Amino acid sequence: MAVWGVVNQKGGVGKTTTAVNLATGLARAGRRVLLIDSDPQGNATTGLGADKSAVPGTLFDVYRSLAENMDAAGLIEQFILPGAEGRPDLLPATLDLAGAEGVLQAAVGKEVLLRDALEPILDRYDTILIDAPPSLGLITVNILAACDEVIVPMQGEFYALEGLSQLVRTIEIVRKRINPRLKIGRVVLTMFDGRSRLAQQVSQELSEFFGEKLSQTVIPRNVRLGEAPGHGIPAIELFPESKGAQAYSALVEEVLAG
Ligand SMILES: Nc1ncnc2c1ncn2[C@@H]1O[C@H](COP(=O)(O)OP(=O)(O)O)[C@@H](O)[C@H]1O
Ligand SMILES: [Mg+2]
Repeated sequence: MAVWGVVNQKGGVGKTTTAVNLATGLARAGRRVLLIDSDPQGNATTGLGADKSAVPGTLFDVYRSLAENMDAAGLIEQFILPGAEGRPDLLPATLDLAGAEGVLQAAVGKEVLLRDALEPILDRYDTILIDAPPSLGLITVNILAACDEVIVPMQGEFYALEGLSQLVRTIEIVRKRINPRLKIGRVVLTMFDGRSRLAQQVSQELSEFFGEKLSQTVIPRNVRLGEAPGHGIPAIELFPESKGAQAYSALVEEVLAG
């Protein structure tokens, strides 16, 4: 059993696209997968076609009961939407989750509520993937405290490198103070344009910085990846022949290979 956070405090770098397609690809390969949407924007929830107006609850409700020192073990199970064949289970998110930062702030042990919440369901899954919001606030710190590895999607552009040191420092602090097993598992280049010199240069710098942690698989810029969420079906399932879906399939293989 492994818990992975898909984290980068920058928005629009491909976190949700990576989380949704990786989770679905692993489920299609027969793994028992849970995708946790931990972003109030709820894009992973939309990407899997869940009806946001009908979700029974989100991490917000889980955090609120834990913050009131109530037992949330049964709660998280009630909120998980079971996935069809070849799909991950989903703990959905809606805008309600925006209230989580405030609830966490007031809670005892505010960094480790997610870790506690996941404890009772860990053995039901081979992989739990958590889609993070674009910030390094308490929602993200809870993800870092709960996971074994971080997957960092990065866009091949100059500004991608800005903010990287802040992310790495946050990961190091959480490892030191809260979660000693935390490590960066993989850095994935997304929306990559191989013809761009700048993209090549960024790729080179990331390779120097991260070494083997930089994923072999590079995700190209591909319109199908942007279209799929509008259908509520992951690209890896809806457009399997597209360059984008093929790249995510290769990433799934890379992950399965260890
Ligand atoms: N490789 C790609 N090629 C083209 N569009 C992409 C690609 N990856 C993501 N997108 C689109 O770019 C936008 C931002 O991606 P998203 O995964 O939501 O990023 P984040 O979760 O980091 O904010 C979305 O509209 C998404 O559909
Ligand atoms: Mg997102």
